[in-house]
Amino acid sequence: MKSPSLSLKINLGLLLLGLIMVFSGLLIQIKYHIGNHDGIDIIKSVWGLSHSEWLIIHKISVIIFSFFLVYHINLHWRWFKAVVTKNLIAKNRHVLTLSILFLLVALTGFLPWLIKLTGGDESILNTFIEIHDKIALILLVYLALHISSRIRWFITTFDKLKK
Ligand code: HEM
Ligand code: HEM
Repeated sequence: MKSPSLSLKINLGLLLLGLIMVFSGLLIQIKYHIGNHDGIDIIKSVWGLSHSEWLIIHKISVIIFSFFLVYHINLHWRWFKAVVTKNLIAKNRHVLTLSILFLLVALTGFLPWLIKLTGGDESILNTFIEIHDKIALILLVYLALHISSRIRWFITTFDKLKK
C-alpha cells in the first residue's frame, strides 16, 4: 500500500541526498581529479575541507541515498515487473536506462572502496574510479530528466496532503 505522505518523504529525501551526492562527486572530480595526472593533492583544501573529508561526505550521502532508493524501487517493483512482462520496454526506455546506469555507477563506486578496504590492487581501483566518474556524468543527465518530468507529482502530492 502506497502512502502519499511516506512517498513524499522518501522522494524529498532522494532529492536532497541526490543533490549532496552529485555535488560532492562533481567537486572531487573537478577540483581534485581533472588535470592532476601525478595523483591527488591530499593537502589541498576546498571550502575548508580536504579531499578525504569531501570523500566522506560523498560516501555517507551515497549510502543513505542507496537506502532510500531501495525503498523507492521496492514501491515500484510491480512497475518493473509489468514493463518487462508486458513488453513495455521501448515506452519506458528512460527509467530503465536510469536504473542500469545507477547500477553501473554504484558498482564502479563500491568496488574500489572494497578493494581499498581489503588492500587490493591500486591500478584496478583507479580504473574503476575513472569509469565511475565518467558514467556518473551520463547518470546525472538521466537523473535530471527523471526528476524534472516529475515536478508535477511533487506539486500535486503537496496539494493533496495539505487538504
Ligand atoms: C552522480 C554523480 C557522481 C559523481 C560525479 C561521482 C564522482 C565520484 C568521484 C570523482 C569519486 C572519486 C573520489 C576519490 O577517491 O578521489 C567517487 C567515489 C565514490 N563514489 Fe561516486 N560519484 C557519483 C555518484 C555516485 C553514486 C550514485 C554512488 C553509489 C551509489 C557512488 C559511490 C561512490 C563510492 C562508494 C566512492 C568511493 C570509492 C573509493 O573509496 O575509492 N558515487 N565518486
Ligand atoms: C534523486 C533521485 C530520485 C528522485 C527525486 C525520484 C523521484 C521520483 C518521483 C517523484 C516519481 C513519481 C512518483 C512516485 O511514484 O514515487 C518517481 C518514479 C519512479 N522512479 Fe524515481 N526518483 C529518483 C531516482 C530514481 C532512480 C535512481 C531510479 C532507478 C534506479 C528510479 C526509478 C523510478 C521508477 C521505476 C518510478 C516509477 C515509474 C515512473 O514514474 O516512470 N528513480 N521517481
